[in-house]
Amino acid sequence: MNKLSDPPASSNVVWHQATVTRARREAQNGHRGAIIWFTGLSGSGKSTLAHAVEESLHQRGCRTFVLDGDNVRHGLCGDLDFSDAGRVENIRRIGEVAKLFMEAGIIVLTAFISPYRADRDRVRDMIKEGDFIEIYCDTSLEICESRDVKGMYKKARAGQIAEFTGISSPYEVPENPELDVDTGSAELDTCVSQVIADLMKRGILLHDQCITETR
Ligand code: ADX
Repeated sequence: MNKLSDPPASSNVVWHQATVTRARREAQNGHRGAIIWFTGLSGSGKSTLAHAVEESLHQRGCRTFVLDGDNVRHGLCGDLDFSDAGRVENIRRIGEVAKLFMEAGIIVLTAFISPYRADRDRVRDMIKEGDFIEIYCDTSLEICESRDVKGMYKKARAGQIAEFTGISSPYEVPENPELDVDTGSAELDTCVSQVIADLMKRGILLHDQCITETR
């Protein structure tokens, strides 16, 4: 396998232009495609919020999909560990997959710790400005640890899980996220409303219900 720093092995390939463009898909869907990138510590509420926002969007008639850390690490990224290199490659793959979903006109919601600013910014830089909405699930380590839904913090403290984010591996708080949501203490419904309002403000959602063009 190539190293990440190598040029792509598939160099003799030519891009094929689709006639069904992103713009046509978006017109059909009645909303824009976008990547809603939730980031935060394990247990900060990323998955819960991403799925609750998806539910709300789905009820409005939007086309959506959630890419979730724990699920994706069973398949697409099942070969990667939690070392620095493993996390970098995890986020690179998710970024590429999320971009494909977005180009299909879908609102893709990603729920990965994505602890490194540079990795999140690399995904942001891959796509057009305005298509990447970074949402910080702002829950302190103390609260995440007290929730300890999966019992992992306890194991990490006991030295049974190496390189655990927040304990023995860093988390870099976003400096300028599009949205900072208080997933530590606000009610879930309040957080969902905040995200939906932000998507309206940014013109990703055009109406309360998606008005679709049938053709
Ligand atoms: S990321 O750092 O590469 O973005 P990702 O979101 O895919 O991580 O996976 C995080 C999930 O994997 C956590 O919610 C937790 O359940 C599990 N996990 C297992 N080992 C670790 C670890 N060392 N650090 C963080 N999360 C871990």
